[in-house]
Amino acid sequence: MEKQAFNIAVDGPAGAGKSTIARMVAKELGFVYVDTGAMYRALALFCLQREISPEDEALVSSAVSKAGITIIYEEGVQQVILNGENVSGLIRTEQVGNTASTISAYPAVRAHLLNLQRDLAARTNVIMDGRDIGTCVLPKAQTKIYLTATPKVRALRRFKELKEKGVMCNLQEIEQDIIERDQKDMNRQIAPLKQAEDAVLVDGSDMTIEEVVSAIIRTAKLHGLVV
Ligand code: DC
Repeated sequence: MEKQAFNIAVDGPAGAGKSTIARMVAKELGFVYVDTGAMYRALALFCLQREISPEDEALVSSAVSKAGITIIYEEGVQQVILNGENVSGLIRTEQVGNTASTISAYPAVRAHLLNLQRDLAARTNVIMDGRDIGTCVLPKAQTKIYLTATPKVRALRRFKELKEKGVMCNLQEIEQDIIERDQKDMNRQIAPLKQAEDAVLVDGSDMTIEEVVSAIIRTAKLHGLVV
């Protein structure tokens, strides 16, 4: 009989450190890391490249049906392929992130990605991060984590990251942006960001990355993960 895959779902607001932490957990456990935000970002890029207004739900909904998204792994790192082109680098801008937040509120956009996300987790041990993984995409995930931190802490982290890359930025603006993104992601009608009833809350505001990684691995072991 085929062994059941172990799935870890990590949800939380923008800038909580989900991707850094999920990547480290994946490495330590030999799991595959699935970044679902990257898929929404690829659809956002598709719209931006075609100058489709993200606010126009009808147009966005019909356009995304033409966006073929494939996920591949190169040396363990997720790559997002949009209609044959690797767009993994192009999707990492604030504009693409904000557009992804807007269009991810549309049912057709979410439906376009749901099966792809579920298929990736069906036969493989994965740690998948996003906004609705524990509540919608993988409701049967053995371990669910809701990872958060205060807007101030998240803004400061993003500020430092951008500074390191040499990008000009303003801390207040970043914090405002984060608060607005939280509002959009938490208040949409379909699959809003919220803590699943059976998720473990981890507030990383005063924790190191290593402490959060250990907390997640400990929780997964409590839930039956054998390593
Ligand atoms: O995690 P991220 O910043 O790459 O995500 C970009 C946007 O995509 C986020 O603001 C909301 C949307 N998203 C979503 O609605 N559901 C997910 N599972 C992942 C991301």
